[in-house]
Amino acid sequence: MRQICKIVKKEFLTPDIVDLRFYSQEIAAACFPGQFVHILCSPAQVLRRPISICDVEGGAVRVLFEVRGGGTEYLSRLEPGDAIDVLGPVGNGFSDVPRGERALFVGGGIGIFPLLMPARRCDKTPSVILGFRDISRVVLVDDFRKLSCNLSVMSDNGSFGERGFVTDKMAEILRRGEADRVYACGPKAMLKAVAELAAQYSLPCEVSMEERMGCGIGACLVCACAVRRANGERDYVHVCKDGPVFDASEVDF
Ligand code: FES
Repeated sequence: MRQICKIVKKEFLTPDIVDLRFYSQEIAAACFPGQFVHILCSPAQVLRRPISICDVEGGAVRVLFEVRGGGTEYLSRLEPGDAIDVLGPVGNGFSDVPRGERALFVGGGIGIFPLLMPARRCDKTPSVILGFRDISRVVLVDDFRKLSCNLSVMSDNGSFGERGFVTDKMAEILRRGEADRVYACGPKAMLKAVAELAAQYSLPCEVSMEERMGCGIGACLVCACAVRRANGERDYVHVCKDGPVFDASEVDF
């Protein structure tokens, strides 16, 4: 659905990461974890920016985004009360965690944003691993702390949380048999490592490839993602149209 929505809150979490909430009861009610919205970032732009949905609160939709170019820069300068043109929710999100199963959520960098909503919706306490390059990139940790979850925070250089990679912590959790399925979002190299670890333990694993998106409508082709078909043949899909979430066993990293 397409709606003109009022911004109800905006905050810079770092100099280039913005936490923005807009009001739309209809979009909020229709959102599934892992989906995204297309926001028309300025009247001068034709293309919308695909931005992942972080959470819904009442009738407000919360999105976090990194300022990367003219469109997101314009969006970052809007204030509560301003209106934005939103299309969504769109995309194939994460599947629901089956009742009674223990999910493990693994996020790296800005890939942690779409994991908040599914981690909140588990009936059995999930484990969550968040990874950051260093303390200057740490955001959203307090929101995860408020959830009922076993939270681990890692940074590459140990400047925040534990020193190490998310996969170090993931290996510990899987060794202890504390997860029944895995959901991940982050840089491609991280997703590849997460998918391999999950496969070692024969756990179902879904990965969100959304960091690869550009136009979000199938026009720019930057989001091409290689997959393996059931017959073993290599094929390409669009992250924006066919994802952003895929079964990790299908992705040809
Ligand atoms: Fe441009 Fe998918 S993001 S084709």
